[in-house]
Amino acid sequence: IKHIGLLTSGGDAPGMNAAIRAVVCACEHYNISVTGIKAGYQGLINGWFTSLDSHSLIHSLCRGGTLLKSARCQAFRTQEGRAQAWQNLQQSGIDALVVIGGDGSLTGAALLEQEYPVAVIGIPATIDNDIFGTDACIGYDTATNTVVEAIDKIHDTAASHNRLFFIEVMGRNSGFIALNAGIAAGCSAILVPEHYQPVDDIIERFASCDMAGDAGIVIVAEGHQNGGIAELASITARRLPDFDIRVSILGHIQRGGSPSCADRVLAGRLGVYAIEQLRRGESGTMVALQHQLVCSLPLHDVIQQQPALQTEQLRVSRILAM
Ligand code: F6P
Repeated sequence: IKHIGLLTSGGDAPGMNAAIRAVVCACEHYNISVTGIKAGYQGLINGWFTSLDSHSLIHSLCRGGTLLKSARCQAFRTQEGRAQAWQNLQQSGIDALVVIGGDGSLTGAALLEQEYPVAVIGIPATIDNDIFGTDACIGYDTATNTVVEAIDKIHDTAASHNRLFFIEVMGRNSGFIALNAGIAAGCSAILVPEHYQPVDDIIERFASCDMAGDAGIVIVAEGHQNGGIAELASITARRLPDFDIRVSILGHIQRGGSPSCADRVLAGRLGVYAIEQLRRGESGTMVALQHQLVCSLPLHDVIQQQPALQTEQLRVSRILAM
């Protein structure tokens, strides 16, 4: 491997900049050229290439977002789009591609690797943490900390006014953010897409509380199966008319902010390991963390499976939510 192309793709995640820096540092360490590709696969198709050097990246280590910018690119889903991307890689003499991103980005990486003779390696980065085969994705730790901090604040006002809050968090179809932030913030109920819990169960539980303030906070993953959060709140309000109920949707605040120490370290380890695996001749894989150790696994295994929430954690969350 002589020349690596590097891109970030899909929803940005805190720690992507730290991963970019780690890849660039590793390339410099092993005397490999590296080219940044702007705006993910869109930039690969359009030839938006830029130079990167480790010294200029030190200041972005502590920044959220991605300095390479990101996009969800429809054109890369087509064969024409990928053919154009391959042509640009060839013209620039890039012989390996590092893709930092989530599920859709890794699926694109697997397709390109299958169709063209270019080495490709993925680095999992998404606040949703919904990538199979890794204990953690870059950005997830920061996002859950952001959620916990926000809920702690909402707790203050909820308690002062004796209100019951429904708080929606991100996660697409997965409940990692809701489950873990819900445990950490002491939420009274946690609704995740993976385990259907009828709204009646929740209402029944709260019916025994003297007032809404005792009920506290329900954290709701955006992909949960009880309809929209507003509907959930209004059903509850109809059934518990004495409760003062509010809804709060945390939204894109969860995607931003300075990455946590854990995310920076994870990004550093996975970024360096990705380059080392490419040097060993590996391709079509994703670097991951399993039981505290870095490892890699085939992209095909990654994109065909969904990680499951731990049943032990679900059980703990129910005990703590009393
Ligand atoms: O995948 C990250 C994520 O933030 C999801 O949690 C959310 O459903 C989605 O992206 C939002 O995407 P967008 O910023 O494109 O609206």
